[in-house]
Amino acid sequence: MSLRFELIPNPAPRTDAEVAAVLADPGFGSRFSDHMSVATWTKADGWADAAVRPYGPFQIDPAGAVLHYAQEIFEGLKAYRHADGSIHLFRPEANARRFQTSAARMMLPELPIEDFVEGVVELVRADQRWVPDSTGEKSLYLRPFMFADEVFLGVRAAERVTFSVIASPSGPYFAGGVKPVDIWVTDSYARAGVGGTGAAKCGGNYAASLIAQYQGYEHGCSQVLFIEAAEKDRVEELGGMNVFLITADGKLVTPALTGTILDGITRSSILTVAADLGLQPEERPITPEELFGGIADGSTVEAFSCGTAAVVTPIGAFRSVNGEWKLPAGNEVTLAIRNAILDIQYGRVADTRGWLRRVV
Ligand SMILES: Cc1ncc(COP(=O)(O)O)c(C=O)c1O
Repeated sequence: MSLRFELIPNPAPRTDAEVAAVLADPGFGSRFSDHMSVATWTKADGWADAAVRPYGPFQIDPAGAVLHYAQEIFEGLKAYRHADGSIHLFRPEANARRFQTSAARMMLPELPIEDFVEGVVELVRADQRWVPDSTGEKSLYLRPFMFADEVFLGVRAAERVTFSVIASPSGPYFAGGVKPVDIWVTDSYARAGVGGTGAAKCGGNYAASLIAQYQGYEHGCSQVLFIEAAEKDRVEELGGMNVFLITADGKLVTPALTGTILDGITRSSILTVAADLGLQPEERPITPEELFGGIADGSTVEAFSCGTAAVVTPIGAFRSVNGEWKLPAGNEVTLAIRNAILDIQYGRVADTRGWLRRVV
């Protein structure tokens, strides 16, 4: 039987004026709406106790398993308000499927697709005031997550788990317009290895990527590109985004999904719309030599990163301990891809692929 996320209204919701003040300048990830979705799972009884309830802290016992062994996964998606005031999610079933894949890898229970989507949809309905208007690339960022909530220090799969969804209004990633970013290519740190958790969206992957990210900051870069850990013969992905190259002969190339990188929903959407833009998509291994050599000899003309938060971000240069490889300015094709995805998300073009799920 499917879960029903009944609303337990927040007795002290923010006033309309307070919400308006947040939505005027939402930033990212530090302000949260009035409610949260929650459900719990136990080995004995399965999923139960679903509700959309007032936003507030969890009580976690100091021996709570997640605090010790990081048995945790999460997702990220957005609710977009269209010009007519309606509110839509973008491919939420894809996030739900990836959540199941991540759960399986981390020995967490499977949450049925319809329950994941219901938890997200009911939260957005309850907090629809918190979805910003359609101007300026604002949205309501949604963060579903699941963690081991059992009071037990033994190392094994938890027998009590919490699922939750919280919502945070988010402003445009680039306040002053889209600007190319520089990327640090690390050869000293790895994010994931074959057989590891690279294809799962689990918190530990992000903790492991921070040291390389900070190494990148020291070299004037805002993101880090990881190379395959053992052979160092494949470009993989950034700490929180997938990567694409555009060649002079119209190919749109991205690393194949080999089990060590995340199956990004923006990535898969871009591969799908590529043909509409006259591009030929290619998913295959990219060697570091091809990455750097292609920029040096002009056969690679643009590069970009992509993910839910920043959509599509042009890359200005790659840097490593061996030097710097600058891409030409312009980024026309990258910006066309960016607009193609945003146009679908904000309802500015017809949703011919059934990617939008209307919520309000
Ligand atoms: C490691 C990593 N790769 C890629 C992505 C892009 O995935 P998506 O397009 O589904 O947001 C993300 C963001 O979720 C990520 O954290």
